Amino acid sequence: MMLWQQVIRIGIVMILAFCATVAIPATGESGKVGGGKRQPPATASIPAPVAAQRDLSLVLGRPSANSVTMSIVSAISREGYIEYGKRQDRLERKTATVALPAHTPVEITLDSLQGDALYYYRLCTRLPDSTAYLSGAVQTFHTQRAPGATFTFAIQGDSHPERPQQHDPALYVQTLTAAAADHPDFYLTIGDDFSVDTLREVNADTVKAVYLRQRACLSLVSVPIFLVNGNHEQAALCNLDGTANNVAVWAQTARNSLFPQPAPDAFYTGDAEQIAHIGLLRDYFAWTWGDALFVVIDPYWHSAKAVDNPFGGGEKTRDLWNATLGDTQYRWLKQTLEGSMAKYKFVFTHHVLGTGRGGIEQAGLFEWGGKDKRGVDRFAEMRPGWAMPIHRLFVNTGVTIFFQGHDHIFARQVLDGVVYQTLPDPANPNYVMNNAEAYRSGDKMPGSGYLRVTVDPARVTVEYVRQYRPRDETTSRISGETAFSYNSPACKP
Ligand SMILES: [Fe+2]
Ligand SMILES: [Fe+2]
Repeated sequence: MMLWQQVIRIGIVMILAFCATVAIPATGESGKVGGGKRQPPATASIPAPVAAQRDLSLVLGRPSANSVTMSIVSAISREGYIEYGKRQDRLERKTATVALPAHTPVEITLDSLQGDALYYYRLCTRLPDSTAYLSGAVQTFHTQRAPGATFTFAIQGDSHPERPQQHDPALYVQTLTAAAADHPDFYLTIGDDFSVDTLREVNADTVKAVYLRQRACLSLVSVPIFLVNGNHEQAALCNLDGTANNVAVWAQTARNSLFPQPAPDAFYTGDAEQIAHIGLLRDYFAWTWGDALFVVIDPYWHSAKAVDNPFGGGEKTRDLWNATLGDTQYRWLKQTLEGSMAKYKFVFTHHVLGTGRGGIEQAGLFEWGGKDKRGVDRFAEMRPGWAMPIHRLFVNTGVTIFFQGHDHIFARQVLDGVVYQTLPDPANPNYVMNNAEAYRSGDKMPGSGYLRVTVDPARVTVEYVRQYRPRDETTSRISGETAFSYNSPACKP
Protein backbone atom coordinates (compact mmCIF):
# COMPACT_ATOMS: atom_id res chain seq x y z
CA MET A 1 0.00 0.00 0.00
CA MET A 2 1.31 3.44 -0.92
CA LEU A 3 1.92 5.93 1.87
CA TRP A 4 -0.92 8.21 0.75
CA GLN A 5 -3.26 5.24 0.71
CA GLN A 6 -2.24 4.41 4.25
CA VAL A 7 -2.89 7.98 5.35
CA ILE A 8 -6.33 7.97 3.77
CA ARG A 9 -7.09 4.62 5.34
CA ILE A 10 -6.01 5.88 8.73
CA GLY A 11 -8.29 8.87 8.28
CA ILE A 12 -11.25 6.70 7.41
CA VAL A 13 -10.60 4.34 10.27
CA MET A 14 -10.24 7.30 12.62
CA ILE A 15 -13.77 8.35 11.74
CA LEU A 16 -15.01 4.82 12.25
CA ALA A 17 -13.14 4.65 15.51
CA PHE A 18 -14.95 7.74 16.74
CA CYS A 19 -18.25 6.15 15.87
CA ALA A 20 -17.20 3.05 17.77
CA THR A 21 -16.36 5.22 20.75
CA VAL A 22 -19.66 7.02 20.55
CA ALA A 23 -21.90 4.04 20.09
CA ILE A 24 -20.76 2.20 23.18
CA PRO A 25 -22.49 -1.14 23.27
CA ALA A 26 -23.84 -2.21 26.63
CA THR A 27 -22.26 -5.60 26.24
CA GLY A 28 -20.67 -5.80 29.67
CA GLU A 29 -22.33 -6.93 32.82
CA SER A 30 -25.30 -4.78 33.53
CA GLY A 31 -24.37 -1.95 35.83
CA LYS A 32 -26.08 0.67 37.86
CA VAL A 33 -27.20 3.85 36.29
CA GLY A 34 -24.86 6.55 37.47
CA GLY A 35 -27.74 8.63 38.73
CA GLY A 36 -26.44 12.10 37.89
CA LYS A 37 -26.62 14.30 34.84
CA ARG A 38 -25.75 12.53 31.65
CA GLN A 39 -22.37 12.71 30.01
CA PRO A 40 -22.25 14.93 26.93
CA PRO A 41 -22.26 13.07 23.63
CA ALA A 42 -18.79 11.73 22.94
CA THR A 43 -18.94 13.29 19.48
CA ALA A 44 -19.29 16.82 20.88
CA SER A 45 -16.56 18.98 19.36
CA ILE A 46 -13.51 16.74 19.47
CA PRO A 47 -10.48 18.96 18.85
CA ALA A 48 -8.27 17.70 16.03
CA PRO A 49 -5.25 16.95 18.27
CA VAL A 50 -7.43 14.77 20.47
CA ALA A 51 -8.96 13.04 17.45
CA ALA A 52 -5.49 12.08 16.30
CA GLN A 53 -4.70 10.65 19.74
CA ARG A 54 -7.89 8.61 19.68
CA ASP A 55 -6.53 6.90 16.61
CA LEU A 56 -3.08 6.29 18.02
CA SER A 57 -1.82 7.40 21.42
CA LEU A 58 1.28 7.02 23.50
CA VAL A 59 1.24 7.57 27.27
CA LEU A 60 4.34 7.48 29.43
CA GLY A 61 4.54 6.40 33.03
CA ARG A 62 6.66 4.96 35.82
CA PRO A 63 9.85 6.89 35.05
CA SER A 64 12.79 5.76 37.14
CA ALA A 65 16.55 6.16 37.31
CA ASN A 66 17.08 3.92 34.31
CA SER A 67 13.69 3.17 32.72
CA VAL A 68 10.35 4.49 31.53
CA THR A 69 7.21 2.64 30.43
CA MET A 70 5.35 3.58 27.26
CA SER A 71 1.74 2.53 26.72
CA ILE A 72 0.42 2.46 23.16
CA VAL A 73 -3.23 2.21 22.14
CA SER A 74 -4.20 2.03 18.49
CA ALA A 75 -7.76 2.21 17.22
CA ILE A 76 -6.88 -0.20 14.43
CA SER A 77 -4.51 -3.12 14.21
CA ARG A 78 -0.94 -1.95 13.64
CA GLU A 79 2.57 -2.91 14.58
CA GLY A 80 5.23 -0.58 15.84
CA TYR A 81 8.35 0.16 17.81
CA ILE A 82 10.01 3.00 19.69
CA GLU A 83 13.14 4.74 18.49
CA TYR A 84 15.08 6.60 21.14
CA GLY A 85 18.43 8.08 22.01
CA LYS A 86 20.21 10.98 23.63
CA ARG A 87 20.58 12.98 20.45
CA GLN A 88 17.60 14.39 18.61
CA ASP A 89 19.23 13.88 15.24
CA ARG A 90 20.31 10.33 15.95
CA LEU A 91 17.86 7.97 17.66
CA GLU A 92 20.33 5.15 17.77
CA ARG A 93 18.30 2.68 19.82
CA LYS A 94 15.18 0.83 18.82
CA THR A 95 12.86 -1.54 20.67
CA ALA A 96 11.59 -4.78 19.22
CA THR A 97 8.60 -4.43 16.92
CA VAL A 98 5.38 -5.32 18.71
CA ALA A 99 1.87 -6.08 17.51
CA LEU A 100 -0.66 -3.39 18.38
CA PRO A 101 -4.08 -5.04 18.25
CA ALA A 102 -7.00 -2.62 17.94
CA HIS A 103 -8.14 -0.97 21.19
CA THR A 104 -5.65 -3.01 23.21
CA PRO A 105 -3.07 -1.23 25.36
CA VAL A 106 0.46 -2.49 24.82
CA GLU A 107 3.28 -1.50 27.18
CA ILE A 108 6.90 -1.19 26.14
CA THR A 109 9.49 -0.53 28.83
CA LEU A 110 12.72 1.18 27.88
CA ASP A 111 15.36 0.09 30.33
CA SER A 112 19.12 0.26 30.75
CA LEU A 113 18.84 4.02 30.39
CA GLN A 114 21.36 6.45 31.79
CA GLY A 115 20.38 8.22 35.00
CA ASP A 116 19.73 11.96 35.06
CA ALA A 117 19.62 12.11 31.26
CA LEU A 118 17.40 13.64 28.60
CA TYR A 119 16.17 11.21 25.96
CA TYR A 120 14.47 11.78 22.63
CA TYR A 121 11.95 9.27 21.37
CA ARG A 122 9.31 8.65 18.76
CA LEU A 123 6.77 6.01 17.92
CA CYS A 124 6.94 4.35 14.51
CA THR A 125 3.98 2.30 13.27
CA ARG A 126 2.63 0.66 10.19
CA LEU A 127 -0.50 -1.13 9.14
CA PRO A 128 -0.16 -4.92 8.83
CA ASP A 129 -0.31 -4.86 5.03
CA SER A 130 2.03 -1.92 4.64
CA THR A 131 5.79 -1.87 4.21
CA ALA A 132 6.21 1.79 5.13
CA TYR A 133 6.47 2.93 8.71
CA LEU A 134 5.02 6.27 9.75
CA SER A 135 7.09 8.12 12.34
CA GLY A 136 5.46 10.16 15.07
CA ALA A 137 6.82 13.45 16.34
CA VAL A 138 10.07 13.35 18.29
CA GLN A 139 9.39 13.98 22.01
CA THR A 140 11.50 13.91 25.13
CA PHE A 141 11.55 12.42 28.60
CA HIS A 142 14.04 12.64 31.42
CA THR A 143 15.27 9.92 33.76
CA GLN A 144 15.49 10.54 37.51
CA ARG A 145 17.27 13.76 38.34
CA ALA A 146 20.32 13.72 40.54
CA PRO A 147 20.31 15.62 43.84
CA GLY A 148 20.98 19.29 43.23
CA ALA A 149 19.50 19.29 39.72
CA THR A 150 16.98 21.92 38.65
CA PHE A 151 13.81 20.57 37.03
CA THR A 152 10.12 21.33 36.59
CA PHE A 153 6.93 19.37 36.90
CA ALA A 154 3.39 20.45 36.08
CA ILE A 155 0.02 19.65 37.61
CA GLN A 156 -3.61 20.26 36.76
CA GLY A 157 -6.79 20.42 38.82
CA ASP A 158 -10.08 18.60 38.24
CA SER A 159 -10.73 18.44 34.50
CA HIS A 160 -14.32 17.08 34.62
CA PRO A 161 -14.69 16.40 30.90
CA GLU A 162 -18.20 15.10 31.60
CA ARG A 163 -19.40 18.61 32.55
CA PRO A 164 -19.85 20.78 29.46
CA GLN A 165 -20.70 23.72 31.71
CA GLN A 166 -17.19 23.78 33.13
CA HIS A 167 -15.08 21.99 30.55
CA ASP A 168 -14.23 23.33 27.12
CA PRO A 169 -12.44 20.62 25.08
CA ALA A 170 -10.46 23.11 23.02
CA LEU A 171 -9.36 24.99 26.13
CA TYR A 172 -8.28 21.69 27.68
CA VAL A 173 -6.10 20.99 24.64
CA GLN A 174 -4.67 24.48 24.97
CA THR A 175 -3.79 23.94 28.63
CA LEU A 176 -2.26 20.52 28.03
CA THR A 177 -0.31 21.76 25.02
CA ALA A 178 1.02 24.73 26.97
CA ALA A 179 2.09 22.49 29.84
CA ALA A 180 3.84 20.16 27.39
CA ALA A 181 5.72 23.08 25.89
CA ASP A 182 7.32 23.68 29.29
CA HIS A 183 8.96 20.23 28.99
CA PRO A 184 8.23 19.23 32.56
CA ASP A 185 9.78 16.00 33.81
CA PHE A 186 6.27 14.74 34.53
CA TYR A 187 2.64 15.78 34.74
CA LEU A 188 0.19 15.07 37.55
CA THR A 189 -3.58 15.13 37.67
CA ILE A 190 -5.44 15.52 40.97
CA GLY A 191 -8.65 13.50 40.42
CA ASP A 192 -12.17 13.96 39.01
CA ASP A 193 -10.75 13.34 35.56
CA PHE A 194 -12.60 10.06 34.87
CA SER A 195 -16.08 10.60 36.27
CA VAL A 196 -18.43 7.65 35.94
CA ASP A 197 -21.19 9.22 38.03
CA THR A 198 -22.99 10.68 35.04
CA LEU A 199 -22.82 7.69 32.74
CA ARG A 200 -26.22 6.58 31.55
CA GLU A 201 -25.20 2.96 31.76
CA VAL A 202 -22.23 1.85 33.82
CA ASN A 203 -20.47 -1.29 32.69
CA ALA A 204 -16.94 -2.35 31.83
CA ASP A 205 -17.21 -0.93 28.31
CA THR A 206 -18.65 2.46 29.17
CA VAL A 207 -16.18 2.95 32.01
CA LYS A 208 -13.26 2.00 29.77
CA ALA A 209 -14.52 4.50 27.19
CA VAL A 210 -14.28 7.27 29.81
CA TYR A 211 -10.62 6.39 30.38
CA LEU A 212 -9.90 6.17 26.66
CA ARG A 213 -11.36 9.63 26.04
CA GLN A 214 -9.31 11.21 28.82
CA ARG A 215 -6.23 9.30 27.68
CA ALA A 216 -6.50 10.88 24.24
CA CYS A 217 -6.27 14.28 25.96
CA LEU A 218 -3.60 13.56 28.55
CA SER A 219 -1.33 11.90 25.99
CA LEU A 220 -0.82 15.38 24.54
CA VAL A 221 1.61 16.18 27.36
CA SER A 222 4.02 13.47 26.06
CA VAL A 223 5.86 13.11 29.39
CA PRO A 224 5.21 10.60 32.19
CA ILE A 225 1.81 11.02 33.84
CA PHE A 226 0.89 10.34 37.46
CA LEU A 227 -2.79 10.00 38.31
CA VAL A 228 -4.42 10.89 41.64
CA ASN A 229 -7.75 9.26 42.51
CA GLY A 230 -10.85 11.47 42.88
CA ASN A 231 -14.32 11.00 44.30
CA HIS A 232 -16.03 10.93 40.89
CA GLU A 233 -13.85 8.07 39.68
CA GLN A 234 -15.76 5.79 42.07
CA ALA A 235 -12.63 3.64 42.22
CA ALA A 236 -13.31 2.97 45.86
CA LEU A 237 -13.37 0.19 48.41
CA CYS A 238 -17.03 0.80 49.27
CA ASN A 239 -18.07 -0.11 45.73
CA LEU A 240 -16.55 -3.60 45.80
CA ASP A 241 -19.06 -6.42 46.05
CA GLY A 242 -16.84 -9.48 45.92
CA THR A 243 -17.35 -10.00 42.20
CA ALA A 244 -15.59 -8.75 39.09
CA ASN A 245 -18.71 -6.84 38.06
CA ASN A 246 -18.81 -3.55 39.90
CA VAL A 247 -17.83 0.00 39.14
CA ALA A 248 -14.71 -0.04 41.33
CA VAL A 249 -13.22 -3.01 39.48
CA TRP A 250 -14.17 -1.59 36.09
CA ALA A 251 -12.69 1.82 36.91
CA GLN A 252 -9.42 0.64 38.43
CA THR A 253 -8.89 -2.00 35.76
CA ALA A 254 -9.38 0.56 32.99
CA ARG A 255 -7.13 3.01 34.81
CA ASN A 256 -4.29 0.58 35.34
CA SER A 257 -4.47 -0.91 31.86
CA LEU A 258 -4.45 2.47 30.09
CA PHE A 259 -2.04 4.42 32.30
CA PRO A 260 1.24 2.88 33.52
CA GLN A 261 1.14 3.77 37.22
CA PRO A 262 3.70 2.82 39.86
CA ALA A 263 3.63 -0.27 42.05
CA PRO A 264 6.21 -1.06 44.72
CA ASP A 265 9.55 -1.95 43.16
CA ALA A 266 13.19 -0.93 43.46
CA PHE A 267 12.34 2.69 42.63
CA TYR A 268 8.83 3.30 44.00
CA THR A 269 7.21 2.42 47.31
CA GLY A 270 3.45 2.21 47.72
CA ASP A 271 0.37 0.07 48.01
CA ALA A 272 1.39 -3.59 48.09
CA GLU A 273 -2.05 -5.05 48.78
CA GLN A 274 -3.57 -7.32 46.15
CA ILE A 275 -7.27 -6.75 45.46
CA ALA A 276 -9.37 -9.55 43.97
CA HIS A 277 -10.23 -8.98 40.29
CA ILE A 278 -7.81 -6.03 40.10
CA GLY A 279 -4.41 -6.94 41.48
CA LEU A 280 -2.25 -4.09 42.71
CA LEU A 281 -4.21 -0.85 42.97
CA ARG A 282 -1.35 1.55 42.24
CA ASP A 283 -3.33 4.22 44.10
CA TYR A 284 -0.72 5.44 46.59
CA PHE A 285 2.98 5.62 45.89
CA ALA A 286 6.12 7.67 46.44
CA TRP A 287 9.37 8.38 44.66
CA THR A 288 12.36 10.68 44.89
CA TRP A 289 13.41 12.97 42.03
CA GLY A 290 16.30 15.36 42.42
CA ASP A 291 16.03 17.09 45.75
CA ALA A 292 12.32 16.29 46.12
CA LEU A 293 10.18 13.53 47.55
CA PHE A 294 6.82 13.01 45.82
CA VAL A 295 4.03 11.29 47.72
CA VAL A 296 0.57 10.44 46.33
CA ILE A 297 -2.04 9.33 48.88
CA ASP A 298 -5.60 8.06 48.49
CA PRO A 299 -8.50 7.72 50.95
CA TYR A 300 -11.07 6.25 48.54
CA TRP A 301 -9.59 2.77 48.30
CA HIS A 302 -9.17 2.57 52.09
CA SER A 303 -12.50 3.78 53.50
CA ALA A 304 -15.24 1.23 54.08
CA LYS A 305 -17.95 3.84 53.46
CA ALA A 306 -18.26 6.33 50.61
CA VAL A 307 -15.93 9.23 51.37
CA ASP A 308 -17.87 11.71 49.26
CA ASN A 309 -20.79 11.05 46.89
CA PRO A 310 -22.05 7.44 47.02
CA PHE A 311 -22.16 5.71 43.66
CA GLY A 312 -25.69 5.78 42.28
CA GLY A 313 -26.73 8.64 44.56
CA GLY A 314 -27.79 8.88 48.17
CA GLU A 315 -26.76 10.78 51.26
CA LYS A 316 -23.14 11.60 51.88
CA THR A 317 -21.69 10.33 55.11
CA ARG A 318 -21.90 12.81 57.96
CA ASP A 319 -19.30 11.16 60.13
CA LEU A 320 -15.98 11.96 58.53
CA TRP A 321 -14.11 9.68 60.89
CA ASN A 322 -15.23 7.17 58.23
CA ALA A 323 -12.91 8.86 55.71
CA THR A 324 -9.48 7.37 56.18
CA LEU A 325 -6.18 6.43 54.65
CA GLY A 326 -6.37 3.25 56.71
CA ASP A 327 -3.75 1.88 59.06
CA THR A 328 -1.44 0.43 56.41
CA GLN A 329 -1.29 3.55 54.26
CA TYR A 330 -0.84 5.75 57.33
CA ARG A 331 2.12 3.67 58.51
CA TRP A 332 3.62 3.82 55.03
CA LEU A 333 3.07 7.60 54.81
CA LYS A 334 4.71 8.16 58.17
CA GLN A 335 7.65 5.95 57.30
CA THR A 336 7.99 7.58 53.86
CA LEU A 337 7.98 11.14 55.17
CA GLU A 338 10.12 10.45 58.23
CA GLY A 339 12.59 8.31 56.32
CA SER A 340 13.22 10.78 53.52
CA MET A 341 16.15 13.18 53.68
CA ALA A 342 14.87 15.07 50.61
CA LYS A 343 15.16 18.83 50.78
CA TYR A 344 11.59 19.27 49.52
CA LYS A 345 8.55 17.09 50.13
CA PHE A 346 5.36 17.26 48.06
CA VAL A 347 2.17 15.41 48.96
CA PHE A 348 -0.75 15.01 46.56
CA THR A 349 -4.33 13.85 47.11
CA HIS A 350 -7.75 14.83 45.81
CA HIS A 351 -8.72 16.71 48.97
CA VAL A 352 -8.08 16.89 52.70
CA LEU A 353 -10.04 13.84 53.95
CA GLY A 354 -11.20 13.20 50.36
CA THR A 355 -14.28 15.39 50.76
CA GLY A 356 -15.53 18.71 52.16
CA ARG A 357 -14.61 22.20 51.03
CA GLY A 358 -11.64 24.37 51.89
CA GLY A 359 -7.97 23.81 52.62
CA ILE A 360 -6.51 24.71 56.00
CA GLU A 361 -10.09 25.15 57.25
CA GLN A 362 -10.35 21.35 57.15
CA ALA A 363 -6.84 20.56 58.32
CA GLY A 364 -7.68 20.46 62.02
CA LEU A 365 -10.46 17.94 61.61
CA PHE A 366 -10.79 14.18 61.96
CA GLU A 367 -7.71 12.13 61.09
CA TRP A 368 -6.12 15.13 59.39
CA GLY A 369 -6.18 17.25 62.56
CA GLY A 370 -7.62 15.11 65.34
CA LYS A 371 -10.74 17.06 66.30
CA ASP A 372 -14.39 16.52 65.55
CA LYS A 373 -16.64 19.32 64.36
CA ARG A 374 -17.36 20.41 67.95
CA GLY A 375 -13.66 20.91 68.53
CA VAL A 376 -13.23 17.85 70.74
CA ASP A 377 -9.94 16.03 70.26
CA ARG A 378 -10.89 12.40 69.63
CA PHE A 379 -7.80 11.35 67.69
CA ALA A 380 -6.45 8.82 70.19
CA GLU A 381 -9.87 7.21 70.50
CA MET A 382 -10.67 7.16 66.77
CA ARG A 383 -7.22 6.36 65.40
CA PRO A 384 -5.66 4.00 67.94
CA GLY A 385 -2.04 3.25 67.15
CA TRP A 386 -1.54 6.35 65.02
CA ALA A 387 1.27 8.54 66.29
CA MET A 388 -0.23 11.87 65.24
CA PRO A 389 -2.78 13.46 62.88
CA ILE A 390 -1.76 13.87 59.24
CA HIS A 391 -1.24 17.62 59.33
CA ARG A 392 1.06 17.31 62.37
CA LEU A 393 2.96 14.59 60.51
CA PHE A 394 3.40 17.02 57.60
CA VAL A 395 4.69 19.73 59.94
CA ASN A 396 7.05 17.43 61.80
CA THR A 397 8.55 15.96 58.65
CA GLY A 398 8.90 19.25 56.75
CA VAL A 399 6.34 18.83 53.97
CA THR A 400 6.89 21.74 51.60
CA ILE A 401 3.60 21.79 49.68
CA PHE A 402 0.42 19.77 49.97
CA PHE A 403 -1.51 19.77 46.67
CA GLN A 404 -5.25 19.14 46.45
CA GLY A 405 -8.12 19.66 44.00
CA HIS A 406 -11.87 19.06 44.36
CA ASP A 407 -12.79 22.70 44.98
CA HIS A 408 -12.09 24.05 41.49
CA ILE A 409 -10.22 27.15 42.57
CA PHE A 410 -6.65 28.36 42.79
CA ALA A 411 -6.03 28.88 46.49
CA ARG A 412 -2.73 29.08 48.29
CA GLN A 413 -2.67 28.97 52.05
CA VAL A 414 -0.02 28.29 54.67
CA LEU A 415 -0.54 26.49 57.97
CA ASP A 416 2.32 25.85 60.40
CA GLY A 417 4.83 26.28 57.57
CA VAL A 418 3.09 23.86 55.21
CA VAL A 419 1.67 25.31 51.98
CA TYR A 420 -1.84 24.08 51.16
CA GLN A 421 -2.15 24.54 47.41
CA THR A 422 -5.59 23.99 45.88
CA LEU A 423 -5.65 23.61 42.10
CA PRO A 424 -7.78 25.50 39.57
CA ASP A 425 -9.73 23.89 36.74
CA PRO A 426 -7.63 23.36 33.64
CA ALA A 427 -10.37 24.02 31.10
CA ASN A 428 -13.23 26.00 32.64
CA PRO A 429 -14.36 28.65 30.13
CA ASN A 430 -16.21 30.59 32.84
CA TYR A 431 -13.00 31.59 34.67
CA VAL A 432 -14.78 31.43 38.01
CA MET A 433 -13.69 30.80 41.60
CA ASN A 434 -15.81 27.94 42.84
CA ASN A 435 -16.09 27.43 46.59
CA ALA A 436 -14.26 30.68 47.32
CA GLU A 437 -16.30 31.17 50.49
CA ALA A 438 -14.79 27.99 51.93
CA TYR A 439 -11.34 29.57 51.85
CA ARG A 440 -11.33 32.18 54.62
CA SER A 441 -7.69 33.14 54.08
CA GLY A 442 -4.94 32.92 51.52
CA ASP A 443 -4.48 33.90 47.91
CA LYS A 444 -7.37 32.99 45.65
CA MET A 445 -7.72 33.21 41.89
CA PRO A 446 -10.18 31.93 39.27
CA GLY A 447 -9.51 29.32 36.58
CA SER A 448 -8.30 28.21 34.18
CA GLY A 449 -4.80 26.88 33.72
CA TYR A 450 -2.15 24.68 35.31
CA LEU A 451 0.68 24.99 37.81
CA ARG A 452 4.31 24.87 36.79
CA VAL A 453 6.61 23.97 39.66
CA THR A 454 10.34 24.49 39.37
CA VAL A 455 12.60 22.77 41.87
CA ASP A 456 16.12 24.07 42.28
CA PRO A 457 18.66 23.74 45.07
CA ALA A 458 17.69 27.06 46.67
CA ARG A 459 13.91 27.10 46.39
CA VAL A 460 10.71 25.78 44.90
CA THR A 461 8.93 28.18 42.56
CA VAL A 462 5.24 27.69 41.91
CA GLU A 463 3.68 29.51 38.97
CA TYR A 464 0.01 29.56 38.07
CA VAL A 465 -0.10 29.67 34.27
CA ARG A 466 -3.47 30.96 33.08
CA GLN A 467 -5.16 29.90 29.87
CA TYR A 468 -8.01 31.64 28.05
CA ARG A 469 -9.93 30.75 24.94
CA PRO A 470 -8.66 32.97 22.10
CA ARG A 471 -11.95 34.88 21.98
CA ASP A 472 -11.72 35.61 25.71
CA GLU A 473 -8.24 37.08 25.61
CA THR A 474 -7.79 40.80 26.23
CA THR A 475 -4.80 43.02 26.84
CA SER A 476 -4.93 41.97 30.49
CA ARG A 477 -6.00 38.35 29.98
CA ILE A 478 -3.28 36.62 28.01
CA SER A 479 -2.83 32.88 27.75
CA GLY A 480 0.47 31.75 29.16
CA GLU A 481 0.79 34.61 31.60
CA THR A 482 1.95 33.79 35.10
CA ALA A 483 -0.98 35.00 37.11
CA PHE A 484 0.53 34.21 40.49
CA SER A 485 3.81 32.85 41.73
CA TYR A 486 5.56 32.21 44.99
CA ASN A 487 8.63 30.53 46.41
CA SER A 488 8.83 27.94 49.10
CA PRO A 489 12.16 27.49 50.81
CA ALA A 490 13.18 24.07 51.94
CA CYS A 491 11.67 23.25 55.33
CA LYS A 492 13.86 21.92 58.06
CA PRO A 493 12.07 19.30 60.12
FE1 LIG B 1 -13.90 16.01 43.72
FE1 LIG C 1 -14.17 18.05 41.02
